[in-house]
Amino acid sequence: MNGRKILLVVGGGIAAYKVPELVRAWTKAGAEVRCVLTEAASSFVSPLVLQSLTQAPVRQSLFDPGEEGQIGHIEVADWAELVVVAPATADLLARMAQGMANDLATTVLLATRAPVLVVPAMNVNMWDHAATQANLETLRERGVLVEGPDSGELACGWEGQGRMSDPEAIAARTSLLLGTRSMHGNRMVVTAGGTREPIDAVRSVTNRSSGKMGYAIAAEAARRGAEVVLISGPTGLATPAGVRRVDVETALEMRTSVLAEFDAARIIVMSAAVADFRPANASDRKIKKEDLADGEGLQLEMVRNPDILAEISARRDQRVVVGFAAESHDVLPAARRKLARKGCDLLVANDISRSDAGFETDENAVILLTPDGDTEELPLLPKTEVASRILDRVEKLCGARE
Ligand SMILES: Cc1cc2nc3c(=O)[nH]c(=O)nc-3n(C[C@H](O)[C@H](O)[C@H](O)COP(=O)(O)O)c2cc1C
Repeated sequence: MNGRKILLVVGGGIAAYKVPELVRAWTKAGAEVRCVLTEAASSFVSPLVLQSLTQAPVRQSLFDPGEEGQIGHIEVADWAELVVVAPATADLLARMAQGMANDLATTVLLATRAPVLVVPAMNVNMWDHAATQANLETLRERGVLVEGPDSGELACGWEGQGRMSDPEAIAARTSLLLGTRSMHGNRMVVTAGGTREPIDAVRSVTNRSSGKMGYAIAAEAARRGAEVVLISGPTGLATPAGVRRVDVETALEMRTSVLAEFDAARIIVMSAAVADFRPANASDRKIKKEDLADGEGLQLEMVRNPDILAEISARRDQRVVVGFAAESHDVLPAARRKLARKGCDLLVANDISRSDAGFETDENAVILLTPDGDTEELPLLPKTEVASRILDRVEKLCGARE
């Protein structure tokens, strides 16, 4: 964590007494730490202690003429590589979920583009309350990461979930999140999930892609410091930390979004399962079954969707383009033909006939193919690990183009 910049936002909970220990773990690992305290937090932990441990001024007020001479709240929000909120009180979580900016802590949290990790700590009933859980869900959907809370004896006398994670566990998680910075300065577009092609006002043609592989790639690239735009078909997945997500439904919308991001991108990873065909004449009203007799057929004319991967591969210049192939038989020859047809730099081939890998699973077994004939077959691995192997290859390809 040498030289890595962590901004710690401290909320007003009893667990704030563990915060000096957390700061100490980070500074010992070489990280630079700055602290922002809510007004309530300074009743639970001494700003002077944190100031001494971080050797930097501790900030508490949005309206401090000394600090705000240089718009200090934006400066500190931009400075951070990672923002950790610990302890994250029920109140702070609620204000974050609402997008409030009514003190220094929430203003900085709204202004930062860095990944945010919240470490909740509170009474078990406050934690279980529907309002707190809904706020957390909102934050998760926005890509905020959550650490803990643990279960056990609580400071308030209750037993249950609500204890702040131990400082060592938080330090380990932040070290993992900060990761390497090997992709810093690269803008990457990742497409993920399946597209949904409307038949009528309520029905659509889609596929079984869960989006997990693309989301894992986006998360890993952000962890390596890339600026990531994730263009996603409908999925139930949370936006990875530090990733900007653009939601689309149809293949045509996906093409428009990819082309809008194309110029600024250095790397494009097309992991989405884009529908090859769409209904030619989607009805904006529901097709009624009463219009047909029992057993009567319904004709659905399909037309081909544009081939986004081939289109961007042809225009790629110095960009690195990665394509995906989902094959159900003769995987290798089919993937090799697809690579030749599409003209991308790396093709990731999935064998979707396996029940333990591919669509909807957490693991994947893929073959990586390059135009020079190189083939690497990876064993069955978690999708996070597959993402890491793919990005190792992408980094090499980027290096070769410099
Ligand atoms: C002794 C004491 C302990 C508290 N402990 C917690 C706690 O662990 N978690 C929490 O969410 N709120 C706790 N609170 C309530 C918060 O301090 C209160 O909601 C406050 O407004 C939080 O402000 P902040 O979110 O701006 O830091 C505690 C309050 C008191 C008086």
